[in-house]
Amino acid sequence: MQDRWSRMSKQRQGTFLRSVVVAAAALLATQAHGSPSADPLAPAGRWEGNMRGSASTPPMGWNSWNAFRTEVDEDKVMGAARVLVDSGLAKLGYTQVNLDDGWWLKRRTGDGRLQIRTGIFPSAATGGPDGTSFKPFTDRLHAMGLKAGIYTDIGRNACSQAYDLHSPNLPQGTTAEREVGLDGHVTQDINLYFREWGFDYIKIDACGLADFVPGSELVKKQDYRAMAPLIERNSINRTDIAAVRARYEAVAAALKAARPANDYVLSICAWGMANVRTWGKDVGNLWRTSSDITPSWTSMLHNFDSAAKRPLYAGPGHWNDPDILHIGHGDFDAAHPVEVRSHFSLWAMINAPMLVSYDLRNGPAAFLAVLGNADVVRLNQDKAGHQGVVTYDSDDAQIIVKTLGDGQRKAVALFNRGASPAPVTLLARHLKLSDSAPVTLRDLWSKQRVTFTGEKAFTLAPRETLVFEATGTRQLENGVYLSEIPGSINVAVDGTRQPQPDPTIHRMIDPWSNTRSGGSRPQYAGWGGAQADTTPFGQTLQVAGQAFDSGIGILANSRLQVKNDAGHAVLTASVGVDDSTEDTKQPVRFHVYGDGKLLAESPPVAFGARAHRLRADIRGVKVIELVVRGAASDGAAPVVATWGDVQLVRAAGR
Ligand code: GLA
Repeated sequence: MQDRWSRMSKQRQGTFLRSVVVAAAALLATQAHGSPSADPLAPAGRWEGNMRGSASTPPMGWNSWNAFRTEVDEDKVMGAARVLVDSGLAKLGYTQVNLDDGWWLKRRTGDGRLQIRTGIFPSAATGGPDGTSFKPFTDRLHAMGLKAGIYTDIGRNACSQAYDLHSPNLPQGTTAEREVGLDGHVTQDINLYFREWGFDYIKIDACGLADFVPGSELVKKQDYRAMAPLIERNSINRTDIAAVRARYEAVAAALKAARPANDYVLSICAWGMANVRTWGKDVGNLWRTSSDITPSWTSMLHNFDSAAKRPLYAGPGHWNDPDILHIGHGDFDAAHPVEVRSHFSLWAMINAPMLVSYDLRNGPAAFLAVLGNADVVRLNQDKAGHQGVVTYDSDDAQIIVKTLGDGQRKAVALFNRGASPAPVTLLARHLKLSDSAPVTLRDLWSKQRVTFTGEKAFTLAPRETLVFEATGTRQLENGVYLSEIPGSINVAVDGTRQPQPDPTIHRMIDPWSNTRSGGSRPQYAGWGGAQADTTPFGQTLQVAGQAFDSGIGILANSRLQVKNDAGHAVLTASVGVDDSTEDTKQPVRFHVYGDGKLLAESPPVAFGARAHRLRADIRGVKVIELVVRGAASDGAAPVVATWGDVQLVRAAGR
């Protein structure tokens, strides 16, 4: 071994070590779910999606950050809370009131208990041996029918301690007293926040793992304890994904212990780093998919894109988080009603958390009318939790379709990303509705109705988003395509190997470094992940020249889980190696399992072979698993596999 090892090139050694790490991580992940199986592709026979925490629909409410940064105080927060209640927004679901950075004074020497900055939160000055407490504050919010959220960092220090050095509200005291993050204090702090202080929601940032670099000016000047970065924002390969994930796992475990009734929300704020777009769903209830939103149109595009192509990774209890809304500022202020409605509509369509963050006490009534659009809120809060799927994609305009509830109704957004008017033709086919039957659209902003057959042309104003509820005759009258129900799917293993940054996300001029870097680079891993209605790399699904409008695109050596809650009877699919695959040599096999039992499988199929028809009887099955196995060859890129037209139908036939 020693000899072979030393003869290997550095690159081969690296690849080998990485494959060991990936295999070990996969093993740990399965073991964390209680399964002794070492094969991550083996069917689990039960739903493995994360059931911890309670976010059955995307969180809604208010967050202090975009409004006040660290200059938050009790009057400002209670003022926002009061507006939520008095305006009726709370009744619509905006119940979460979240403190962000800036609330803390220090970590007390001796017992390590966190102390609140009572200068800005006077009700926290409870005195006694504890010093300070947020209990009076959360009691008031709870008495108003609201929920309370708090903020911390997964490392020792928080983001403001790196980026808001002029803030009057930075933690004070010795180096140790200013270590207000969770590092070394997970159980103590989680118990304090959730058992003693009564918070319901926690947002956990990650600057502590990224920005306090040994030898840096920041560490020296501010006298912080350095931490070798676990996250390097510009290098996924130099980021310790397993260590970052393990830290959030530890918090998830502490939360579960602190609140066994499961009445909490865990919001992971690792800004799309450390491959969180892939594993966030297994650990938290929402996870940031990108860097911070700024009040500019292109930043909104960037953040939207970071979540919009990940519908299969979200669902009830776990949501992609493109960040808090920036309505109220910059390109989304009162002078930009088109942009405000677009931002809001897009977040609704992709099941993003609907957390507003402007000074609600002083905002214009027009914003309350936008936030109060019950039809749009209903899209976002639809119980089935199917994130909208980008059905037509271009850099100019997009069409996003979201299945509502039972699958009979759809919502559709036509989105003009650009600065010129855009001609957009909506096809019944985009909605997976019949071409030959009438389709009725109800505009959720103007409330007007229009009916068409086949297709309907629109011209969108610059930056305009039209949102409709659509009804018609479904293409599949007797069932659903899996790509229509992403919220019922758990991507257990997506087949990606070394995580790759996703190049499809709009690259704005970085608001912090401007043009000082070599360029605005792709940053967020997840490229090659499972996709609805496209291949993992955004190509049309196609097997041996046969294109599929519907289906799931995924890499080989993957496993998907599908809930069969609606009690469908039959699964059918046309499966094969996608024409876009880079590896055109290796064959793969497709397998369908029901509650752990093999129901159907394909022979080995290779590039160029016609799609193989699969049919499985799934009567009585609760969890279907779709597995693609191929050679785990190290060198070549994974084979691109297509589950063409994969669908669930009620009765035999078709
Ligand atoms: C990071 C987060 C923001 C906000 C600030 C607070 O930048 O991504 O959402 O919480 O920290 O300092």
